[in-house]
Amino acid sequence: MRDVKALIATVLVGLSLVAVAGSGETEREIAELVAGMSVREKLGQLKQGVLYTRKDVDCYLPIVRKGEVGSFIFNETLKREWRDELQKAALESPRRIPLSFADNIIHGWRTNFPIPLALSCSFEPELFEEMAHVGAREGREAGLDWTFGPMCDTARDPRWGRVAEGCGEDPWLNGVYAAAQVRGFQGEDASAPDRVAACVKHYCGYSFSMGGHDYNDADFSEWSLRNLHLPPFAAAIDAGALTVMSGFNTVDGVPVLASRRIMTDMLRGGLGFRGMVVTDYNAVIQTVTWGLAADEREAASLCLCAGNDVEMKSTAYDTLERELAEGRLDETVIDEAVKRVLRFKQAVGLFRRPWAIPEPDAEPRRREDAEALALARKCAVRSAVLVKNDGVLPLAADSDIRVALIGPLAEDRKTFVGCWAGMESHGPEVPESLADAVRRAMGGKGRLSVVRGCSTNVKPPVAKRDDGLPVLDRESVPDDASFDLEGAIAAAREADVVIFALGEALDWTGENASRCQLTPTGRQLELFEKVTSAIGKKRIVTLLISGRPLAVPVVSRRSDAVFVAFHGGDGGAFALADLIFGKASPSGRLTISVPYDVSQIPVFYNASVTGRPNQGHYLDTPERGAMYPFGFGLTYTRFAYSSVSIRGQSAVARITNTGTRPGEEVVQFYIRQRACSEGVRPKRELRGFRKVRLDPGESVLVEFPLDAKTLGYYDRSGNWRCDSGIYDIFIAPDSVSGTGVQFKWE
Ligand code: NOJ
Repeated sequence: MRDVKALIATVLVGLSLVAVAGSGETEREIAELVAGMSVREKLGQLKQGVLYTRKDVDCYLPIVRKGEVGSFIFNETLKREWRDELQKAALESPRRIPLSFADNIIHGWRTNFPIPLALSCSFEPELFEEMAHVGAREGREAGLDWTFGPMCDTARDPRWGRVAEGCGEDPWLNGVYAAAQVRGFQGEDASAPDRVAACVKHYCGYSFSMGGHDYNDADFSEWSLRNLHLPPFAAAIDAGALTVMSGFNTVDGVPVLASRRIMTDMLRGGLGFRGMVVTDYNAVIQTVTWGLAADEREAASLCLCAGNDVEMKSTAYDTLERELAEGRLDETVIDEAVKRVLRFKQAVGLFRRPWAIPEPDAEPRRREDAEALALARKCAVRSAVLVKNDGVLPLAADSDIRVALIGPLAEDRKTFVGCWAGMESHGPEVPESLADAVRRAMGGKGRLSVVRGCSTNVKPPVAKRDDGLPVLDRESVPDDASFDLEGAIAAAREADVVIFALGEALDWTGENASRCQLTPTGRQLELFEKVTSAIGKKRIVTLLISGRPLAVPVVSRRSDAVFVAFHGGDGGAFALADLIFGKASPSGRLTISVPYDVSQIPVFYNASVTGRPNQGHYLDTPERGAMYPFGFGLTYTRFAYSSVSIRGQSAVARITNTGTRPGEEVVQFYIRQRACSEGVRPKRELRGFRKVRLDPGESVLVEFPLDAKTLGYYDRSGNWRCDSGIYDIFIAPDSVSGTGVQFKWE
């Protein structure tokens, strides 16, 4: 690595782009650099390669040496030696512009944190900030300077596997968490050795992929675009996000990355974004597959001119050289994009420090895994949502209690990691299984028996129609050799308390993992139903450990207590055991509605009242709305709310812990505008919350401001408006309870 050290010195002498981002000096240097670049070198800065194998590295090396690639995405394959080799080649290229290296840090890098959907239930943005900071530090150490996160798509359809990656169905809350993650990733200075650049994605509307199919059309109104999809991006951009990723989906019939209106007028004009835009994977060339662009050439021009700077994976931008030569493209469009790339590289410190941390020959940094694990555990504790408790929880730890832990997630150490884990640099397994954690929580007392009972990862049974086409075989059960009903029943009969650990297999959630059933995967539900029918009255606690809300009313009916936990990462099992045995108190609240049945989708709290609030419901079910609504969650104590009073420009309510244990309440502040001339506003909109910890008998006065920021909305031109008139104000424990008081805003 000595030659690398020498090279660094040469580069720094040759290229002085070390001034403060955005300063006049940097701008001048960037302009000079761009002025001296060939068209190929410029297009190189807009090209993002993907590295999967050694062969890819070998193919790219000669191109990098010519300065014709600007960045790489590792997509789960990060190898330090590849990075060093490629960076060395880039620094030997004519302009010696360093490469940037990116990957997805979605819920941690080396340390696995709860999936974002889980952590959003904590209602603690500080935890998102801390998680992102740890991910940034670990990612930097591995060689990344850029993460493709936060994802802030407001999602209402749990069939879409990527609900796991976002923060649920509320746009305002998604914005709060997106901003927190941007702060955590980038800090004050994204070039610091423990920070990376954030990339807020997927701009925009991707979560409305029709039917929950991934990569699909998203068809929604301007009203929704302004008030559901753009607000979280606005919050992340205000927090200083250096980059944005355009989405795969269409909006208003056009793949969003090809829409100049959305990518430039709204993003740069309306939202004031000044940074760099990267497309999603292969998205440029996919505009041809969609049927918009006629060929690669057209796709490239469309996407570049719409406002995308960097092309991820596909290489359609190579055709721009000819477009330029033949006078169909103005070179200043390319120059502006290249300048944004160079500013970005300057902002993440690549000109100053092109090597991964620790730099070659430096002292190895102290590994901070223990601290990170402690944070991951804390995050998991704060994420789990107790949705039912007939008084069975918490269990007494130091007793002779006999516990049967049943289900495929009982001893599984892979599933808890969540959808963006399993990367080479991640531990492929969490450190502790649920069985380990429950055993530890029982402290050597009582007896624990563990039965897996079945598998999570089982293909649905398929039959053939008369014409030979495959159909779901609804009469057969999935083929699962591990199905062990007898073992599960025997263990349950011997126990005082049965804990079911049910959920979804890892690869049934996340990207390209849509589902049309919201049930635990494989034969888990059958196992649950048969065991509970066979054992008679027992105390039953069920843990739902998934990447999306599961619609399983039978589980709620037959269980005395239920946790909606989602994939909780390295601390997921630890957290659930501590919560069950009262070593920790549940404090999470749902950020996505849990339906009774998949046929109700979409179910979300911030719907309109409609003109006929009491009509239009399904006739063939009495079920209305969500089984567990947005904002809902129980604790081991009880809280009473006083009625809301309006004091000047504030709404105030007193919250009292009326139970016998300390506990935490997420006090939620919702508004409703009674008459809005621009369009119909939802029956409730979250505009604030406070998480308060109260001892028994203790009370607190919680106050929320009533101002144009909390009461307003975006009109169809993207302007924030706050109309005078009547508003209902709610301070409530969730999105459906509480009574509103009226407030007049003049
Ligand atoms: C496709 C995904 O949509 C995006 O979220 C991710 O960042 C890229 N692939 C790169 O892995």
